[in-house]
Amino acid sequence: MSSTMETAAPRLVDAPEERASIAPVSGTPQLQLVNVWKRFGDPASPTVAVRHVDLKIQRGEFVTLVGPSGCGKSTLFNMIAGLLAPDSDGSILFNNVPQPDGKLLGKVSFMPQRDLLFPWRTVLDNAIIALEVEGMSKKEARARAQTMFPEFGLKGFERHYPQQLSGGMRQRVALMRTFLFERDLMLLDEPFGALDALTRTKMQHWLLQIWAKHKRTVLFITHDIDEAIFLGDRVIVMTSRPGTIKCEEVVDLPRPRDPSLVTDARFIDIKRRLLEVIEEESMKSFAATGAH
Ligand SMILES: Nc1ncnc2c1ncn2[C@@H]1O[C@H](COP(=O)(O)OP(=O)(O)OP(=O)(O)O)[C@@H](O)[C@H]1O
Ligand SMILES: [Mg+2]
Repeated sequence: MSSTMETAAPRLVDAPEERASIAPVSGTPQLQLVNVWKRFGDPASPTVAVRHVDLKIQRGEFVTLVGPSGCGKSTLFNMIAGLLAPDSDGSILFNNVPQPDGKLLGKVSFMPQRDLLFPWRTVLDNAIIALEVEGMSKKEARARAQTMFPEFGLKGFERHYPQQLSGGMRQRVALMRTFLFERDLMLLDEPFGALDALTRTKMQHWLLQIWAKHKRTVLFITHDIDEAIFLGDRVIVMTSRPGTIKCEEVVDLPRPRDPSLVTDARFIDIKRRLLEVIEEESMKSFAATGAH
């Protein structure tokens, strides 16, 4: 496979203009977390992973989440996805309706931190896993998935196996699988974490176009501050573990977003403020681990 093919993010044909304005921040939230906690281990001396998280996400928003490693970001996603039950202190609501334990599974589409592609399944059959689990026939699921291959830059790779793909392509397969599981809310846990800077920039631009086209709400975890600002309507900063929300920055920058935005004075200003709080948090976790 040529290196160009490996690094190039797909171009969208007939892509709509990315939304021109940020989502409204009032009205009934699509997702609401109220006093959410998660403790692991011995109840007498638990590891508190997530502490007192209150969060509201409006329909159609693109919200990015940053915070030191180990602060509980993935744990938070696992709870929203229904893979982990939150402790009994708080609740998670969809469209104002509290979701009891066990009722969240399948309500959101979730791309976990590791791409979790099955090596023994073709790309096409990896893409349809969630649809199959939902009860759709393999034939129908394959037919539906097939239509998305061009959009995700994977046309012609349907019968390849994951180990025959580049890192960027594997991540697009995982993203395509997440999009195919059509839920209004998508959770993306460091989807571009393993990519080189150039591919990553292309993928960010492409994701914004896909987001505009499919009109989903996105919650996106990243360690890259530029990425968080470039993509988000809001950037939420978590504290070091036990993780809670430290602050948020509204990114009131125009859409469609252009890569040159990173040199804009407003972008740099937001980045400076975010770096200050993130630096403060990393110093705390550094001190807590006793590192020098
Ligand atoms: N199933 C589990 N059992 C016990 N402890 C866990 C479990 N899952 C997570 N933890 C702990 O909870 C804390 C938060 O982990 P989590 O994976 O949510 O962090 P993170 O913010 O996603 O980190 P990173 O940025 O490195 O991905 C860590 O201390 C981790 O060891
Ligand atoms: Mg994580």
